[in-house]
Amino acid sequence: RPRRRIDPGYQAVPAFNPGFEDQVVVPEGYSVQVLSPEGAPLAAPYPPYIPGDFNTGADRESQAGAHHDGMHFFPLYRGARGNQSGVLCRNYENIDQVFLHPNGFSRNADGSRPVEDEVRKEIASHGVGVFEIEKRANGEWRTVRSKYNRRITAQTPMDIAGPARGSDLLKTKYSPKGTRTRGTVNNCANGYTPWDTYLTCEENWAGYFYNTVTTGRPREHSRYGVPAAATATYGWGTRPEDKYARFNATPSTPDFYDVQGALQDYRNEANNFGWVVEIDPFDPKSTPKKRTALGRFGHEGAWVAPTTIGKPVVVYMGDDSRGEYMYKFVSKKPFAPWEACGDEYLDEGTLYVARFNEDGTGQWIALTFGKNGLTPANGFNSQADVLINTRSAADYVIATRLDRPEWAVVDERSGHVYLTLTNNSARGTGNQPVDPANPRAGNPDGHIVRWREDRGRFWETEFTWDIFVFGGPSLQTVQSLGAVAPYNANPAYAAQVFPGTDKQAYLGDDATFNSPDGLWVDSHTGLVWIQTDGYSNTARGFGNQQMLAANPETGIVKRFLVGPKGCELTGITATPDRRTLFVNIQHPDGTWPNINGETRPRSATLVITKDDGGVIGT
Ligand code: FEO
Ligand code: CA
Ligand code: CA
Ligand code: CA
Repeated sequence: RPRRRIDPGYQAVPAFNPGFEDQVVVPEGYSVQVLSPEGAPLAAPYPPYIPGDFNTGADRESQAGAHHDGMHFFPLYRGARGNQSGVLCRNYENIDQVFLHPNGFSRNADGSRPVEDEVRKEIASHGVGVFEIEKRANGEWRTVRSKYNRRITAQTPMDIAGPARGSDLLKTKYSPKGTRTRGTVNNCANGYTPWDTYLTCEENWAGYFYNTVTTGRPREHSRYGVPAAATATYGWGTRPEDKYARFNATPSTPDFYDVQGALQDYRNEANNFGWVVEIDPFDPKSTPKKRTALGRFGHEGAWVAPTTIGKPVVVYMGDDSRGEYMYKFVSKKPFAPWEACGDEYLDEGTLYVARFNEDGTGQWIALTFGKNGLTPANGFNSQADVLINTRSAADYVIATRLDRPEWAVVDERSGHVYLTLTNNSARGTGNQPVDPANPRAGNPDGHIVRWREDRGRFWETEFTWDIFVFGGPSLQTVQSLGAVAPYNANPAYAAQVFPGTDKQAYLGDDATFNSPDGLWVDSHTGLVWIQTDGYSNTARGFGNQQMLAANPETGIVKRFLVGPKGCELTGITATPDRRTLFVNIQHPDGTWPNINGETRPRSATLVITKDDGGVIGT
């Protein structure tokens, strides 16, 4: 591993590239292959994709889902072979109904869904894919038909683990003991553990459920925005079959209990979502576990800090919604690699929420029942109650409301934790006044904040923070739009965004971006990789969504990749030698990837290599 951090070594690609608006553009000397687009056969019996997506719901249960998002490459071997063979775990966050159903889809005015197979296909398009991939002799990567391959969907049985397991608030007709549930939805970003498991995170899960009761709704629904009508959802809960009807979380009237007194409805079904789910990619028979100790919110991802033997395992987690919070989990048990598994570290520990002080310091505040006012007198009745209502607990202890916390990654060289704050139209209104960590009213373009824990120890409760970089248009664009606010007019070079300089300076044209979302710090090169998910980009002076790399020491930022029309860039992982990079194109809306004559847009994974076989970014 080189000690010196490098600058991006490639020629930056332009944000606007006439004629290439519906293509992937990478620098000279790099090549891109498309791997496993939506609908590709993934698990037994490997149903082939039917062009136009005429596949059934049953087919999709063994095919790649939609909206490829966070992912991780687990090498299958130590040493060089691990760079050519691995298990990829890949999230499927959401769907585009118009592209999923080639003959159109049916939905009544009340939101109900008359065609069961459409609902089945939508549910199967969510979740996670676990599948082996390998590099062939010709350099191409392909899916291998392997014992590891499996689809996890919004219907897959899951265990509930940790302090909220068995809570009354998790009991349903499906699991009267509150220990099991079905499915995971809106799997956004991810994480992975030192014991080689995958963490998938439930982000905008609330919008899949509804509760038609509009007064006196429980905070487990109201604080998370569970809608009041089926029309605000995909309408899965309108189907009569139990496996779909459960998405209607309206309490039965009168209350419906069985003879043992067990609840017999699905009012608590939505409480089984909003968690981090741990999946063992190497045991295809294993049941995924919802790790309740890590809290319930709009989980973007779950990034495990580098571990130290004898010290706790630490997981960083953002809640991506306007004005929500940043969290970390610190395990009770000190890390010992010889007894590493999720049951040891992810079920017992302390969940903290971040407070960013005005003076550049910060604190992690424990969300522990009985501490910091989280007591019955204040409406918190147990640790399970605190965890199921994590947002309410964070409100109570007065944490810092952030501009939509997305990805968070640790830079092993400096000990910094970087966090993308993607944008926030609500900043400067209501309970979200402008503050030093969220300094731009309306923040349309987002920024990246970072911190260092006290003495670089991830488990400590004090930190110091600063802003790493602001998203925003180039000075040229700002001038051509005739706009100034909220940007300072400092036309100097990109490096000024770094410490000790004017942090609101403009980035150069090689580096302008907005709405940072995906993040990765490559421990080999020290490059900070940034992926974007902005809106109205062309009209606002930005190109398509993109990926850049930055050297945080020199301040050099260069655009590495521009995606096709309508997509966001998200998900990033690499082979151990960093010579193959995997990133995802999510929800393109043109004709990309345009393979085998198919012009229906499909999310897909990009496999990026350097033509000279070098490390990506050099
Ligand atoms: Fe699914 Fe916050 O991105
Ligand atoms: Ca997305
Ligand atoms: Ca995201
Ligand atoms: Ca986003």
